[in-house]
Amino acid sequence: MTYTHSKTLDTSTDFILPCKKDDLKSIAHLLPIKQPDFDGSFATYLQLYGKDGNRIYLIGLGEEKHNAQLENAFHKLAFDTQKYWDKSIQVYAEELTEANVRKAVIGLEMAQYQIGAFKSEKEKSKKTSVAIVTSKSIKSVIEEGNFTGQTINKIKALVDAPPNIKTPEYLGKWAEKSSKKANYKCTVLKHKELKKQGFEAVLSVGKGSVNKPVVIINEYYGNTSKKVDIALVGKGITFDSGGLSIKPSTNLHYMKSDMGGAAVVLGVIELIAKLKLNINVVGIVCSAENAVDAESYRPGDVIDSYSGKTIEIIDTDAEGRLVLADGLSYAVQQIKPEYLIDLATLTGSVVRTLGYEAAGMFTHNVDMANTMSQIGYNVHERVWQLPMFEEYKSDLHSDVADLRNFSGKPLTGATNAAQFLEAFTEDHNNWMHLDIAGVSFGSSPYAKMKSASGYGIQLITEFIKTKLTS
Ligand code: BES
Ligand code: ZN
Ligand code: ZN
Repeated sequence: MTYTHSKTLDTSTDFILPCKKDDLKSIAHLLPIKQPDFDGSFATYLQLYGKDGNRIYLIGLGEEKHNAQLENAFHKLAFDTQKYWDKSIQVYAEELTEANVRKAVIGLEMAQYQIGAFKSEKEKSKKTSVAIVTSKSIKSVIEEGNFTGQTINKIKALVDAPPNIKTPEYLGKWAEKSSKKANYKCTVLKHKELKKQGFEAVLSVGKGSVNKPVVIINEYYGNTSKKVDIALVGKGITFDSGGLSIKPSTNLHYMKSDMGGAAVVLGVIELIAKLKLNINVVGIVCSAENAVDAESYRPGDVIDSYSGKTIEIIDTDAEGRLVLADGLSYAVQQIKPEYLIDLATLTGSVVRTLGYEAAGMFTHNVDMANTMSQIGYNVHERVWQLPMFEEYKSDLHSDVADLRNFSGKPLTGATNAAQFLEAFTEDHNNWMHLDIAGVSFGSSPYAKMKSASGYGIQLITEFIKTKLTS
């Protein structure tokens, strides 16, 4: 889709007419009949014909509270009806705020996502031109919505990609290609370099796979200051079999999505570079495949890490915290960012606690927590803070090493994982961990099986804009 801005509505061609709940008055002059059977309920729509035979789609915006997820209404309308659209369609946006327009464009763009990338016969995608009609000047808002929607689609494609294709090296190639297009620096550290620099935890997790681990470092400098405003660290396990502590086979195929955190990091850096934000940001993706093999790391092993701390392995399925430990150590020692956020599909525990509606948020920084929480509501990518009380820390005790990767108890799993990560942050004041295991991949009306949600792109980008640009 391409998006343009227009000041006048052509009522003789197709247009989308947004409508608030129980409020047809403000758009009455554009309706072809006086009382259509439509009350503007959220994410409903009704197609009417104008007197020139053109299509008029009434779309329900619902109530004020629905603004946070407006993209879902536009996504649904476009997904269901775009096969009937002509080469161009208009969206009447006079009554929409800038945030509404951004969400509308995101939703229309999200409807372009095709999950069947590996089918022999591809669906044909139509090149529709969308004119946003309003007297306000909103070119940059339209562009931002378009870039955001495109990025969400790209990271969904990455998370939905099969694990035999989406190897750690593939993620590296994805990042290199993106960096050339969006103009930022990308370095992919491969096996030899990882060994040389001491990414021992990443290497241990990846030992059992022929697809060797990589660490991707994406650097975007929006200004000439040497200071890095924020570093993002992402878990990039391209397939999590559990390793020798092997997972049950039910739903094991969904463990291709265990690089959801990495996908958010890759996507946000690309989006920020495209938006040319005036900040400096570094993305670190620690990627490995957790496989079963004679070479695999074992329960009982004591492994080294980038920080120099030794780790006793109790369960090889608690692999995400190991790769992230090295990513966090690298960030605090080499990048020294003002803010540090990691994202990971880290625990089943967070899914049992918060289900599919919110990410688990862990931080000691009240201000960061409040901002992230508010933005989560604003963009409908919600977070919920979970505790990191001192008393839980004894669960990390190991008799033989500096710490262990699992307590062995079926309790407070998401907190234990967060406190394990904390041990590698050197008490960074502005660190936050987001456990996105329940929100990054799940059911949607657009696919029969579970698929990627795109969660995190709007949350993190808006957080960065709010905290770091003004
Ligand atoms: N990748 C999983 C967590 C996960 C679970 C992601 C469900 C998405 C959906 C992670 O590596 C894992 O296996 N965690 C274990 C840790 C345990 C062995 C300490 C878990 O949470 O069960
Ligand atoms: Zn695991
Ligand atoms: Zn995992």
